[in-house]
Amino acid sequence: MELNANTIAKGVLLPGDPKRAQYIAVNYLKQTEEFRLDNGITGYSGIYDGRRISVAGSGMGIPSVMLAADALYDCDDVNAIIRIGTCGTAQSEVNIGDMLIALGCSTTSGINYRTFEGDLFCPVADFEMLQVATDKAVAMNIGFKVGNILSCDLFYDLTESEANNRWWDFGVLGVEMEGAGLYTTALKHQKKALMICTVSDSIINRQGMTPKQRETSLHDMIILGLNSIYEFCD
Ligand code: HPA
Repeated sequence: MELNANTIAKGVLLPGDPKRAQYIAVNYLKQTEEFRLDNGITGYSGIYDGRRISVAGSGMGIPSVMLAADALYDCDDVNAIIRIGTCGTAQSEVNIGDMLIALGCSTTSGINYRTFEGDLFCPVADFEMLQVATDKAVAMNIGFKVGNILSCDLFYDLTESEANNRWWDFGVLGVEMEGAGLYTTALKHQKKALMICTVSDSIINRQGMTPKQRETSLHDMIILGLNSIYEFCD
């Protein structure tokens, strides 16, 4: 298949860290070419199992992921994005290394409060993508949990209520910093999004994976993300 340097695939895998995007492009894609969007988002398009897939780094935090997703969805071809990332947890049912798939994203951020002028919007996953990812995970014998993930603006919540507050009592599985922004942007564009997270740390005792593990041991999530976004590419 011929690749045009300026073309982005229909499906984009979107880790937060641009270095992880490059790592995926180098290690998992063939005939890889770099692309750059006007707002500075860079990524790679390449062939995965015969189909063209793109991978880009969103940067960290809700504003960054919303800018990246807006720019990607503004490309006519782009229809689906899967964020792959890490999250923390204070949920007793959830362990470091678990894979979580976000059915919806609660948020402490003001993005939707502002957009909906005080009413509460519920950013949800694309149902078809959720079905594809869960089917693939079962077929690949990868364990996962599906549920509500909390997207925060603060990594370290200075109110110190994070580990004790009622998100966990209401079944939230994990906490990260982008999901609500991605889901909201996808819904605004009437396009598709899904978030898959690996639990990288416990926010109760701040234990977690080493940076080296973060970089390399997320293979299962990368493969699940690639095999899932594959179904939305051609
Ligand atoms: N909080 C917010 N975002 C995160 C965390 C966390 O504990 N771990 C990984 N991303």
